[in-house]
Amino acid sequence: MTDNIEKARKIIKNNNIDNYTIPCKKLYPFQWNWDSAFSALGIYTYDKDRALLELDMLFKGQWKNGMIPQIIFHRDDPGYFPGPDIWDSKTNPKTSCITQPPVVASIVWKMVLLGLRKKEKMEEYFKKLFKYHQWFVNNRDPYKQGLISIYHPWESGRDNSPDWDNTLNNIALKPVFIDRKDDILIDEKMRPTNNDYNKYMQIVYKCKELDWDNLLIYDKGLFNVCDPGVQFIFVRACKDLYKLAIFLKKDEYLNTIENWIDRYSDGCDKLWNSEFNSYTTYDIKENKLCYGVSCASLLYAYADVGSIEQRKYMKEHSNRILRHCNYLFPSWDPSSNKFDKKKYWRGPIWCIINYLLLNGFNNIGDTYLADKIRENTIKLIDRNGFFEYYDPINGKGYGGNNFTWTAAIYLILKEETLNQ
Ligand code: SER
Repeated sequence: MTDNIEKARKIIKNNNIDNYTIPCKKLYPFQWNWDSAFSALGIYTYDKDRALLELDMLFKGQWKNGMIPQIIFHRDDPGYFPGPDIWDSKTNPKTSCITQPPVVASIVWKMVLLGLRKKEKMEEYFKKLFKYHQWFVNNRDPYKQGLISIYHPWESGRDNSPDWDNTLNNIALKPVFIDRKDDILIDEKMRPTNNDYNKYMQIVYKCKELDWDNLLIYDKGLFNVCDPGVQFIFVRACKDLYKLAIFLKKDEYLNTIENWIDRYSDGCDKLWNSEFNSYTTYDIKENKLCYGVSCASLLYAYADVGSIEQRKYMKEHSNRILRHCNYLFPSWDPSSNKFDKKKYWRGPIWCIINYLLLNGFNNIGDTYLADKIRENTIKLIDRNGFFEYYDPINGKGYGGNNFTWTAAIYLILKEETLNQ
């Protein structure tokens, strides 16, 4: 075992609480939805039972209506804002009231490919995953347009991406209660701004005023956007859920899931900006497409959507991005004036996105790009350590250190390289 594999396992073990793993000490002291799914897959490379416990703890947070929340507050910790009292979920365990990119079905399917055969557990997961997807369809696409809405930038996982700038600019600053802790722990150059937080909290307070009623928020909330990241991840997750249904012989579910795959694959076309020739974010409230390429735009390959022509344009974008960076894949197009190589989701590289991207590029046969992303990810970690995100120009690590999902992706990539 190499030193870094041992180190990655140690990081994950140090971030263990009670059969769940926090992303990073102090900075993120609870269980996060997509963090935990990636952690579970990383843990699966060395401790299969513990990996399933990670998922069990995640599903413990699932709401009665099917939503799996963004954060599950299994215990209190005053070191994070906004904590359980702000959200006031009235659930047990307490949770935040929004979700995150639904990678979990794909993670479970990946475990099946890696040999998971515990029939009862798989059946249990399947039912919970189906309910989660059904929740998205019923609550985040009420008019069946084939577009999955997000109600908060936090739901995209890409909190301060330039993708949300126009939408957030429509919200005027106003005095709201904010008690940030993250900017004390991390250099503020690497985090969202206070103005960003002002808008984030206004969106939360407005949703709270609307009683977290998804249908009301769709029309009356401050933020209703289709994020290509969530949309593409959802399409892929439905495809993987379908494979799981076949594997478990759940024939009665196949038609429904097939309809979801068709509807949301077709919906991706509405994210195509034909003036800019890219998949972009779409503001549903304003009926406006964004003009910028993010790492999420490139996840079209992960969903396996797009015509030959659309793929050709996306290839041109990735080639341009490749020329501007020493390391792949930046979270925002480096040729844009909004690119900031240090600032959270406005430029830095995130290993979990790299993992999805390299899977996607392999899917569509672009093995050159997939291999480059794989190599770059391992190199970034080997040279700089296990950080939350990395500078695409000089490779430096930023944000939280000893970060769980970075360690998890390292373990997954190393295992895949060994098995190649
Ligand atoms: N990324 C968010 C934060 O910075 C949580 O999802 O707190």
